[in-house]
Amino acid sequence: MDSKKIDKVVSLCKRRGFIFQSSDIYGGLANTWDYGPYGVELKNNLKRAWWQANVYARDDIYGMDAAILMHPKAWEASGHIDNFFDLKSDCKSCKKRLKSEDLKNKSKCPECGGELTEARPFNLMFKTHQGPVEDTANLLYLRPETAQGMFVNFANILDSRHPKLPFGIAQIGKSFRNEITPGNFIFRTREFEQMEIEYFVNPNGADKKLEEWIENRFNWYIALGLNKANLRKRPHGKEELAHYALACTDIEYNFPFGWSELEGIANRSDFDLKRHAEYSGKDLRYFDDTAKERFFPYIIEPSGGVDRSLLAFLTDAYHEEDVRGKIRVVLKLSRELAPVKTAVLPLLKNRPEIIELARRITQGLKKHIVCIYDDTAAIGKLYRRQDEVGTLYCVTVDVESLEDKQVTVRERDTMEQKRIGIDRLKEYLLEKLNN
Ligand code: GAP
Repeated sequence: MDSKKIDKVVSLCKRRGFIFQSSDIYGGLANTWDYGPYGVELKNNLKRAWWQANVYARDDIYGMDAAILMHPKAWEASGHIDNFFDLKSDCKSCKKRLKSEDLKNKSKCPECGGELTEARPFNLMFKTHQGPVEDTANLLYLRPETAQGMFVNFANILDSRHPKLPFGIAQIGKSFRNEITPGNFIFRTREFEQMEIEYFVNPNGADKKLEEWIENRFNWYIALGLNKANLRKRPHGKEELAHYALACTDIEYNFPFGWSELEGIANRSDFDLKRHAEYSGKDLRYFDDTAKERFFPYIIEPSGGVDRSLLAFLTDAYHEEDVRGKIRVVLKLSRELAPVKTAVLPLLKNRPEIIELARRITQGLKKHIVCIYDDTAAIGKLYRRQDEVGTLYCVTVDVESLEDKQVTVRERDTMEQKRIGIDRLKEYLLEKLNN
């Protein structure tokens, strides 16, 4: 993939109000990003599509929203206090902190050639304190994965919803990791959002369920618009498995900076439930009333990143086309993901009747479709802006519209234009958007 594409995507994100550097006016906070007006719409659409496919469309998955702060014992039980670290070395000259994994056995600093310290473990969890006294008794962690909030609620879901195996819990929320080497725009950050499912299964059928979930999740990205040629599955080698995992396959995307993980689908075995049962003293076994036995289910976990997926969808959708000798930049996002479905644009700014009609049409459409109005530039520029944010349909109101009560509807990808009666416009667009 074109390695310059990432710079073009970053630039478009800022120019058009998708993503801004955090605390920009203070010089920015490194590797931290804020989502602007179109970015938040795209993010919400992505999360909604995930929730639709994994919660609403199924009978066996329950949604929830756990707190970011958890009892500190939960992190002892989960193994994160003992195992959730990266090895890092510091450069004695330039003081840069480097992840051992990225050094690939190099003995000198790749930046300045300086001497490196011995590799030391560095726990990735952010610490904070509860209440006014900052001592160890009040130590809390910002969660590094949303998963644990679902494991500690396993018994609550059983008692309140009475599900039978297999069933799952799904959650979308923020996680925090004090990454040693964040970077590649929103790909690796210290604050990010995850979309996770914990799917509880009978241990006997766990391998098959893992395969089913890998297929399911791979196909979800394609159905939502990612080019299949830019996706691949990569099973983990034994040495790279997380401390809780028996097996894991990553879904990777061919980013401009190389193939990288979008989502991991792991078999977490009964590790988490067993450990929480042990540390909390609560019986977290499932009772199978047909076999009349109690056991700890295995957990299949599809765990994806919102921000990473969003970057993949943006990169995949970014197109440059030659239109009559000029470059048209267009975001070919799918109907579900496009932040704006329709934009109403008056052809002439100096005709109050046209402006008035265009505004009236916008207000009418807003009740049914995500629709914006823009009259801040000439029509050519207005089209270009809408193409750059991936708006699906542009509705142009011109002088004739005042007479024939019709408007021009322009489709984003084909740029085909059609005259449509204003009285039919809503139905026309809804049909296009929903079929
Ligand atoms: N509960 C399992 C778990 O957290 P993970 O592979 O460490 O597994 C799952 O993370 C997903 O979360 C990743 O595939 C990625 O999409 C996202 N993710 C993890 N760390 C991230 C970071 N520092 N920045 C952005 N996304 C991240």
